[in-house]
Amino acid sequence: MTKPRHAAPDGTLTLQTVAFPRDTNSGGDVFGGWVISQMDIAAGVTAAQRAGGRCATVAVDAMRFHAPIFVGDLVSVHTRILRTGHTSLTMHVETWVRRQRTGELLMVTEGDFTFVAISASGVKRPLPPENVPTVNG
Ligand SMILES: CC(C)(COP(=O)(O)OP(=O)(O)OC[C@H]1O[C@@H](n2cnc3c(N)ncnc32)[C@H](O)[C@@H]1OP(=O)(O)O)[C@@H](O)C(=O)NCCC(=O)NCCS
Repeated sequence: MTKPRHAAPDGTLTLQTVAFPRDTNSGGDVFGGWVISQMDIAAGVTAAQRAGGRCATVAVDAMRFHAPIFVGDLVSVHTRILRTGHTSLTMHVETWVRRQRTGELLMVTEGDFTFVAISASGVKRPLPPENVPTVNG
């Protein structure tokens, strides 16, 4: 079931930015690919922290676009790890905006991003045990 869009964000605030005119499509709304890119960046930060290094995006599931983003909106991306496997982890990622014009706060997109921990040469590697300090925090 879809969460009510005015409930609180789920997960840790991982990335914040502002939508610029250069991020729009021909209709004047923010381009969907830009939003997915911000979500992938935020999820990558959380994945690298948990995996202790380099990770690759392997799947994006259940991606939903609930509402448009407008130029000037404050965009916040929240991440929460749902599952860890042997080499992979899946995160729920939500994008919320604070409307520049009205101050309204609402969730605009959400999706589940799966990453695989990889070595310097791009080969999958096991995740380290949880709570082991890593160079990435
Ligand atoms: C990531 C990569 C190295 C994985 O290599 P692989 O040997 O094919 O990996 P596997 O098929 O054995 O899967 C590895 C893990 O990912 C999981 N996985 C693979 N495809 C998945 C999918 N579509 N959805 C969810 N999990 C998936 C597997 O279940 C496995 O998890 P586990 O080890 O925790 O059990 C390889 O697929 C790759 O390089 N992909 C391209 C990544 C990329 O370019 N991303 C975009 C830029 S970052």
